[in-house]
Amino acid sequence: MDRVTIRAQDEDLVEVPVITGTEGEQALGIAHLRKATGLVTLDPGYGNTAEASSAITFINGEDGILRYRGYPVDQLVEHSSFLEVCFLLDQGELPSPCRLTEFEQEIRGNASLPEGLMTLLEAIPASTHPMQKLAAVVAVMGSYYPGAGGSAGPEGGPAESTILLAKLPVLAAWSYRSGTDGVYIAPRSDLGYASNFLNMMFAPQDGGFEAPEAHIRALEALLLLHADHGQNLSTSAVRLVGSSRAELFSAISAGILALSGPLHGGANQRVVEMLEEILAAGGDTRSFIERAKDRSDPFRLMGFGHRVYKNYDPRAELIKQHAKDLLRERGNPLLETALRLETEALEDEFFIQRGIYPNVDFYSGIIYRAIGFPSKMFTVLFALGRLPGWLAQWREMIDDPYSRIKRPRSIYLGFPRRDFVPIEER
Ligand code: CMC
Repeated sequence: MDRVTIRAQDEDLVEVPVITGTEGEQALGIAHLRKATGLVTLDPGYGNTAEASSAITFINGEDGILRYRGYPVDQLVEHSSFLEVCFLLDQGELPSPCRLTEFEQEIRGNASLPEGLMTLLEAIPASTHPMQKLAAVVAVMGSYYPGAGGSAGPEGGPAESTILLAKLPVLAAWSYRSGTDGVYIAPRSDLGYASNFLNMMFAPQDGGFEAPEAHIRALEALLLLHADHGQNLSTSAVRLVGSSRAELFSAISAGILALSGPLHGGANQRVVEMLEEILAAGGDTRSFIERAKDRSDPFRLMGFGHRVYKNYDPRAELIKQHAKDLLRERGNPLLETALRLETEALEDEFFIQRGIYPNVDFYSGIIYRAIGFPSKMFTVLFALGRLPGWLAQWREMIDDPYSRIKRPRSIYLGFPRRDFVPIEER
């Protein structure tokens, strides 16, 4: 099937093309529907709308499949590193050993922060959420790198994407420490991406910190598993802002803020807060499940449900295994509570009927907590992980000759025309 016939209001038949993706999913190409019929489509929340054709990430929510550039995430998480995946998402291919080394050096070599950005972070009230601090600083970063091009900066200087990948972990660590002990630990070029970040987060001023290997491995895996997820809300925000040809730093700042909400990346912080609340209330998971089912109670099981996955989120499966590897032997009340909550929810008709399973955020916060991150930093870690996806999706949109400024319509349901009423007559 490559065309579908639609019978419009006036009974005229309109043919619309059917676009078929690599894996057989099909979409109606309705870009010219309004011109032909006067009709637009109305799809609140975009549940039935593909906004872009993309060659970056394939997701099949029914079968729980996630692949970056064709590679299954379980293979990548087993064999690859986060930076290798950043390269893959950006360039479309896995790097050669030599290219990977160059890329890693490029990221290390661009990590240090300009003094002005550090001062700016310090000036933001300590109580500000680190996601908002991060978004504020990223929004003005462009002024420190005028003319940094999309793919290569002036005179071969670093591109915007390199600047962001290299500096966001430093900004993230400093956004936390500037609000706590005020100790700035400079990035180290002898450490890998995850171990460097852990060092900047946790090392005391006089050094002597070495991140445990298990923590480095878990953090690498978590960053990698967050690296891209198609047209999710924050990526859509990046594409939306970028479609106006605003600079990349502005688009990424918008992505960070979009991610911060509790229904999106902010859920990982809320999951651990929910598990702590369950423990504080005596560990009665059932009463929380009942609350989530009660339509008069706005409470939801945080870390459960997904717009796309109506089956187990493959990322949650892999993260759960990492959480078990890291914590099961030691016995961890948060993990035990989470496992019990999951078992009980997945046996409940309410969740079965709606296809509600644990999502990527359900077990990630437990690992972050075990590593020692304060809960306010959990969503920042999501942002660090998602950055390469935002960058690759932005690049794909900018390079797409068919990409236009994004401008949805609405169906007006307000008053019909009426005449102005002078103030003294109201
Ligand atoms: N707890 C209880 N009920 C739920 C939940 C939940 N976590 N998630 C969905 N439902 C119910 C919802 O009440 C609705 O029931 P009904 O049909 O009776 O009205 C039905 O399932 C469909 O929910 P929806 O809100 O229409 O689904 P959505 O696709 O618009 O929302 C979601 C997806 C992720 C926002 C939602 O599942 C949710 O709020 N989950 C909790 C927050 C969360 O964990 N967010 C992280 C998402 S994954 C990481 C990311 O992408 O950021």
